[in-house]
Amino acid sequence: MSQPSIERTLVLVKPDGVRRGLTGEVLRRIEAKGYRFVALELREATADLLADHYAEHAGKPFYDALVEFMLSGPVAAMVLEGERCIEGFRSLAGATDPTVAAPGTIRGDLGRDWGGSVQQNIVHGSDSPESAAREIKIWFAALDA
Ligand code: PPS
Repeated sequence: MSQPSIERTLVLVKPDGVRRGLTGEVLRRIEAKGYRFVALELREATADLLADHYAEHAGKPFYDALVEFMLSGPVAAMVLEGERCIEGFRSLAGATDPTVAAPGTIRGDLGRDWGGSVQQNIVHGSDSPESAAREIKIWFAALDA
């Protein structure tokens, strides 16, 4: 029998989600899915932290606007744990563009285009085990990935 693959992933409720009072709704969906919170904190990101977090996107056309947006207010940062939770949370979140994200997902139910950009898409979730380990270290240095 194969071993269950217990993973950890970094999730952020982005400034738009916190501003709109959607943090509780995002947490509710995560709990209803059955993932465990290992860490949970309201944080103000810094430019240095975001430069690390979004290093792979440096130079892309949306990079500066994305960093500015992520500095526009507090984020709810958390680490989830559970079997295949990296893929599982990405599935809960839905597609990057909230206008076309599937109904039933966080972005599809709660998000839309505001002001001509997809950037206000409520949540971030790590996209691979490598990203999760890197991002957990950036946001929660004292935790094991
Ligand atoms: S990419 O280009 O395939 O790497 O894009 P993707 O993985 O979907 O998204 C990477 C992060 O960039 C954000 N993003 C944007 N922000 C602002 N404007 C535009 N056009 C845009 N496109 C993508 C996207 O929300 C991802 O942010 P995180 O925080 O990782 O969810």
